[in-house]
Amino acid sequence: MSSTYKIAVFPGDGIGKEIVPQAVRVLRAIGARYDVKVDLQEALVGGSAIDEFGVPLPEESLRLALSSDAVLLGAVGGPKWEGLDYSVRPERALLGLREKLGLFANLRPAKLFSALVDASTLKQSVIEGIDIVVIRELTGGIYFGRPRGVEKIDGQERGINTEVYTTSEIERIACVAFEVARRRHRKVCSVDKANVLESSELWRRVVTAVHEDYQDIELSHMYVDNCSMQLIRNPRQFDVILTNNMFGDILSDEAAMLTGSIGMLPSASIGGDVGMYEPIHGSAPDIAGQDRANPIATILSVGMMFKYSFGLDIGYDDIESAVTRVLDRGYRTADIYSPGNKLVGTGEMTDVILHELA
Ligand code: IPM
Ligand code: MG
Repeated sequence: MSSTYKIAVFPGDGIGKEIVPQAVRVLRAIGARYDVKVDLQEALVGGSAIDEFGVPLPEESLRLALSSDAVLLGAVGGPKWEGLDYSVRPERALLGLREKLGLFANLRPAKLFSALVDASTLKQSVIEGIDIVVIRELTGGIYFGRPRGVEKIDGQERGINTEVYTTSEIERIACVAFEVARRRHRKVCSVDKANVLESSELWRRVVTAVHEDYQDIELSHMYVDNCSMQLIRNPRQFDVILTNNMFGDILSDEAAMLTGSIGMLPSASIGGDVGMYEPIHGSAPDIAGQDRANPIATILSVGMMFKYSFGLDIGYDDIESAVTRVLDRGYRTADIYSPGNKLVGTGEMTDVILHELA
């Protein structure tokens, strides 16, 4: 059966402009293989949208996203826009898309490609075989809670943000974590700060209640400070990590770095009608425009799109095994290069991945 999917393509800023066109080549190749027709439409978000329209998420880009089946995003931000007010920074484009598309679940897999075991700063014996997914709540918590802002009080200023979660927000993200765990090693570790925060105490209670319906899954709870330590001490103990927006932001960077390079890791944001797929890394303005960026995180994000938006797990598996073979054959972009390997640029790395795919 043949179907057509409409995909919004947002390269964004910095290296996003280089890696997204490369990932699109892979998207077309996998689409052709499985008879998935794709209709790609590009628009501006982030700093490039600020330069053109004065806002990070123009109406037109948001409308395109809302009317698509999936969004492929590169990265946003750069020094050029750092001085701007919070309300119009490039990052607002990401937060706006997450909120408007209802993307409450962020899946961030951190899996070690064995060819890259030396790229990690940790010992091989610690990181060998790690395969973790961080499931981060993405549209609630302190990122969106009210009240927020900076107010003047008693001759000084006071900055306020609010951590807030409702039962239903916790229930739906817990369900996602248990469902994902069911297709993996059936272990969920829910991470909170229930020894100090009431919102975390609720989080733990609700996750425990949802678990009643998932008795085939092993559930544990861990405080976030301990989790950040355990990730370094013994990362293999984790399968699925379930956590809130703020803790997920921090722990997913930590989990990513276990694998050696943040340039390798994809992500999927789901929960609404439209899924959004993007690399975990940022726009890396220092290497932008030099054909040096690692396209693999974005290419794997395309794989996640096939898996979670088009129901084609095999699309992800094909891409992941092509990447594995390319790494085994010694191809490396600068971020993962070590002597003795073949140094390639963004385009050439994609060429060899496409070659493996064929
Ligand atoms: C991420 C990023 C974003 C976040 C920033 C760029 C707003 O760090 O996706 O992890 O904090 O969520
Ligand atoms: Mg982050």
